Amino acid sequence: MCPQPSYPLFSFLGDVNDVRMVPYRLTYAASWRIDFDSLENSITDSTRAVLLVNPNNPTGSFIKRDEIERLNGICQKHNLVIMSDEVFNNYAIDDEEKLSLINNTEVLTFVLSGLSKVLALPQMKLAWIIMNGPHDQMKDAYSRLEMIADTYLSVSTPVQNALVHWLSLRKEIQNDIRNRIEDNLAIIEKLLDNHISTLLKFEGGWSAVLRFNGLTDDFAYRLLDQHKVYIHPGYFYDFDEASYCVLSLLTPTNILAEGLERILKCQNGG
Ligand SMILES: Cc1ncc(COP(=O)(O)O)c(C=O)c1O
Repeated sequence: MCPQPSYPLFSFLGDVNDVRMVPYRLTYAASWRIDFDSLENSITDSTRAVLLVNPNNPTGSFIKRDEIERLNGICQKHNLVIMSDEVFNNYAIDDEEKLSLINNTEVLTFVLSGLSKVLALPQMKLAWIIMNGPHDQMKDAYSRLEMIADTYLSVSTPVQNALVHWLSLRKEIQNDIRNRIEDNLAIIEKLLDNHISTLLKFEGGWSAVLRFNGLTDDFAYRLLDQHKVYIHPGYFYDFDEASYCVLSLLTPTNILAEGLERILKCQNGG
């Protein structure tokens, strides 16, 4: 089971690994929450795992404590494991609100992260899995994971050698990114015309989601053709309505501000 909307590559990754991804919905009302009816209604005898993205890309939402409890209950009942992709976990807007599944002992749980977001080094291809859960299940899963890791061959040696030094720089890099994200969120809030577009609640990650009236493919093409602004329409991420767009919060702030001004001009018929 995988969340929707979420990272668009999951369905392709599932396909190439002979895993069928079945979506469950996230719904928005003041913040994003798991639609547990849609999750439970889609569980069958062949369901094996529930994938979380925490915080989710692109909705920027962290899982809530009551959701973890409910999810654990469902997974215990159906004998499912949890896979929590936490690559954006260092980028919470409020550290008090961020929850991780790394201490989840109720259910066999795999928490994923890696250099791609921790150090903003996606090309270095080093990632890790933290496993937790009932002891006997962990022992079994550990030996299978070892076999899988061996089968995919080893992480590059230069990357392994550089890792300790690189990790010592993570606070600096993460602070730069967090500052950029905060500046960009402030600019978005300042420039948005709330009659046409709203910024949805952002809890963490690198993307902002805007909901705005009149967002069609035509509008996105017009923005690109005439105003040279590239936005991701929400359906790239399987939002269930057309009226969402996703903005990268990593864009340099002056460029983001210029882009937003062009979007507003285009919305106003310019
Ligand atoms: C939620 C999520 N998980 C995983 C990845 C990919 O990470 P990696 O570069 O470590 O494969 C991304 C990349 O954007 C992502 O958004």
